[in-house]
Amino acid sequence: MRISGADFKKLSGKLNPPPDKSITHRALIVGSISKKGFKIKNPLLSKDTLSTMDCLRKLGKVIKIDGNEISIEPGELIEPREILYCGNSGTTARLLPGILSGYDFLSILDGDPSLKNRPMRRIVEPLRKMGAKIYARDKDSFLPLVVKGGNLKGINFDLSIPSAQVKSAVILSSLFAEGETVIREPIKSRDHLERMLNFLGVSLEIEKEMIRIKGKMKVDGGEIVVPGDISSASFFIGAGVIIKNSHIFIKNVGLNPTRTGILKILKKMGAKIEILEVRSKCNEEVGELEVKYSNLKGIEIDEKEIPSIIDEIPIISLIATQAEGITKIRGAKELRYKESDRIKAISESLRKMGAKIEELEDGIIVEGPTQLKGAVVDSFGDHRIAMTLAIASIVAKGESYIKNFDCVDISYPEFFRDLSYLCSA
Ligand code: S3P
Repeated sequence: MRISGADFKKLSGKLNPPPDKSITHRALIVGSISKKGFKIKNPLLSKDTLSTMDCLRKLGKVIKIDGNEISIEPGELIEPREILYCGNSGTTARLLPGILSGYDFLSILDGDPSLKNRPMRRIVEPLRKMGAKIYARDKDSFLPLVVKGGNLKGINFDLSIPSAQVKSAVILSSLFAEGETVIREPIKSRDHLERMLNFLGVSLEIEKEMIRIKGKMKVDGGEIVVPGDISSASFFIGAGVIIKNSHIFIKNVGLNPTRTGILKILKKMGAKIEILEVRSKCNEEVGELEVKYSNLKGIEIDEKEIPSIIDEIPIISLIATQAEGITKIRGAKELRYKESDRIKAISESLRKMGAKIEELEDGIIVEGPTQLKGAVVDSFGDHRIAMTLAIASIVAKGESYIKNFDCVDISYPEFFRDLSYLCSA
C-alpha cells in the first residue's frame, strides 16, 4: 500500500467503528454451546471471526449470516472430520479448546505460520488439570494442538499471565466441569465473556480478583448485540489527536472499562477526548467519543496498565512520537507473542520513518516530538502494525510504502475506506 501524507487532510466527521472482535468471537462460541437458538446482531465479519465460524461449522454447527445478523441453530457439537484451521486468530485457537474440553471426541487445531509460533502451553496446562486430554507440539508449546475432552472437574487457577484468552478458555471449560472453578486474576483483563454469560443467565460470581463458576452450567439461547470495537477505533482516535485541526466523533463504541485504557492514557498525555452518552447494552457500556487535535506530552506506562491497552500499544507508540518529551512503556513483554513481535515490529518501522524509539526487552521508550518522514516499511503480517503504519504515513512528510498491508482484513476490512472518508472533508 502506497500512502502519501499530502493526499490526506485533517480528520473530520463521524465514524461507526467495526463491531468488536473479542465480543463477536465469544458470542459465536457461547452461541454454539447454547441449548436453544442464538442470535448475534452487528457481528464483526472479518478474517479472524470467519476463522471461528469456519471451525464451528466443522464441529457441526449450522451458522447463517443474514445481512447484519448471525443465527446459530441449536444442536450438539460433533467430532470434526477435518483439522480446525484457526488461521491467524489467537482467540479462536485459545478459546475453542475451552469448549472442546467438554466433549468426548477428538479435535485437532492448527493455524497459519504466525499462529504456529504463539504460545499455547498457557491453555494446555489448566485444561489438562481440569481433566482434558490435551497435547501440543514441542512439549505442549505450539500448534498443532490435539484435544479429547470429557469428565472435567473444577480447579483453582491463578492467572500468572494477565491474559483474557487463557481466562476465557478456563471459564468455558468450567461450564462443563463437575464442581466449582475459582480463577484468581491479579491484573484484570477484558471481561466480555463473564459479562456475556451473566447477561445470558449463567451467573458467575465476581468479587475483586476472584471469579467463581459453579460447574455444569448451561446456556439457554439468547441474543447478543455487538458494540463497536475500541481497539479498531483507536487508530482514528490516535490520528485525531496528532493530526492538526482534526475533530471527529466516534459512534456506538464499546466502553467496557477493561478496554478503555487508551482513553485514560491519552487524557493523561493531555488529549482532548470527551465521552458522551454512555448506555448499557447486553451488559456492556457503549457510548460516543469526541476527539480533537491536542498538544500532548510524554508519560510513563507500567505493567498494571498493560492489559487494558494490550492491542493499542503500537498506536500509542506512534502517538508518543508526536508528544513532547519521553514516553516509557514497561511490563509489556506479552507484546512479543502477538500476531508479530510487536515491540520489534513497531520500533523498527517507526525508526525507519525517523522516530527516536528504543526497544526494551519488555517495552519501548519514545522521545518526541519528531517530524516523521515517508519510508518503505513492513507490517510483518500484523493487522495492528499495518494500521498504525498507515496513520504514521499520513503524518509523515513524503510517500510511504507499507508491505503486506492486506492483513488489515484480520480485524478491520474497511479500514482504508474509513480512513479515506474521515480525511476527505
Ligand atoms: C483477546 C485478548 C488479548 C488480545 C487479543 C484478543 C481476547 O490477548 O491481545 O487481541 O479476545 O481475549 P491475550 O489474552 O493474549 O492478552
